[in-house]
Amino acid sequence: MMKIFMIGDIVGQSGRRALDQYLPQLKQKYGIDVVIGNGENAAHGKGMTRRVYDELVFNGLSLISMGNHTFSKRELFDFIDEADRLVVPLNQPATLPGVGSRVIEVKGIRIRLTNLLGITFMNGIVDNPFACMDQLLSRIGKNEIHIVDFHAEATSEKLALGHYLDGRVQAVLGTHTHIQTADERLLPKGTAYITDIGMTGPYDSIIGSDISSILHKMTTGLAGRYQIAEGPAQFCGVILDIDEVHYRVLNIERVYLRPEN
Ligand SMILES: [Fe+2]
Repeated sequence: MMKIFMIGDIVGQSGRRALDQYLPQLKQKYGIDVVIGNGENAAHGKGMTRRVYDELVFNGLSLISMGNHTFSKRELFDFIDEADRLVVPLNQPATLPGVGSRVIEVKGIRIRLTNLLGITFMNGIVDNPFACMDQLLSRIGKNEIHIVDFHAEATSEKLALGHYLDGRVQAVLGTHTHIQTADERLLPKGTAYITDIGMTGPYDSIIGSDISSILHKMTTGLAGRYQIAEGPAQFCGVILDIDEVHYRVLNIERVYLRPEN
């Protein structure tokens, strides 16, 4: 049995501290073999710096996926070629650097993480995620555990990709909205699915942002400076139990820890 823990969007210092606080006990409690997570909001809410990347790896993340804020910190351009655990959106413009699908080996088993951006209600320039996955799947082997982090806004688009990839990958796990959904399940052909894993970041916040600054923007129509919230974090993730002999998912379990837990 292979147990994989995927952590939802890690937001800012609060989220990074939560890894330090919760991960060791969770790994022990569930017998986790490998931890992966979405880090596109890890450096002060947007993007990735070298220091934050090193911190996430130090705290046990074997692969880190990104999203629409991948290049919000320009510093990433300086070290992306050395960041061999970083997975950027596969369907981002080809002019941008980075690797969109990466494999690591754990206990002799290949584990692949692919990062994809959605189109609906997203304003970036990206290729069609469905077609991108077809292309990728046509050139890779089947003897691996393949997890897709679909970083997208619309629930319908996420569920559609889940069904499109059902039986073709081991998991389609949604990120980006920062709100955990309660629809984790195995799809008819065996792919594990959840619309959104949820956020690992400041509990008293509006999806990670400071409450008063967001309310000011929404009530006055005037956008101020982006402010990330502080304080204790909630911790969101999913655990995948996988039969690594047949590359078959046995179970998906949702984890949502609140600061008072
Ligand atoms: Fe995002």
